[in-house]
Amino acid sequence: MKHVAICFLLLPLLALAVETDEATGLIKSPGWEQVRIHCGGCHSHALVTSQRADRQTWLDMIRWMQATQNLWHFEPATEAAILDYLAENYPPVPNRRRAPIPASLMPKAAKPLQ
Ligand code: HEC
Repeated sequence: MKHVAICFLLLPLLALAVETDEATGLIKSPGWEQVRIHCGGCHSHALVTSQRADRQTWLDMIRWMQATQNLWHFEPATEAAILDYLAENYPPVPNRRRAPIPASLMPKAAKPLQ
């Protein structure tokens, strides 16, 4: 009985957890199927899920792929759904870079050749 009660207490927490699609790794939230359809044909979806950017930068990447990589053009509504999804679920993260290495741990500067 106690376990049943605990299950009911934890259920709402499960609902809060982000659900991802097993095959693609995409977060399942509105628009994800458009991204699954349009963004996995040339490279892994992992290239998408490992990127972080704001809406404009996502758009810049799409335009770059359209201009140079043969990415097709989208209906405006499809493009908006894709951009909303990407900006919402894969937004920029401050400080994704590692901290700089302290100068004391860096190799000594090389001497120029004589
Ligand atoms: C027609 C082929 C094609 C499709 C479809 C495609 N891409 Fe790409 N994309 C590429 C190519 C080619 C590269 C460069 C791959 C590389 O550098 O290894 C790339 C690179 C990327 C990168 C890495 C960019 C960077 O600066 O590191 C991201 C992110 C990306 N694509 C996202 C997407 C998204 C989002 C979609 C769907 C809207 C998409 N791609 C659909 C061809 C495509």
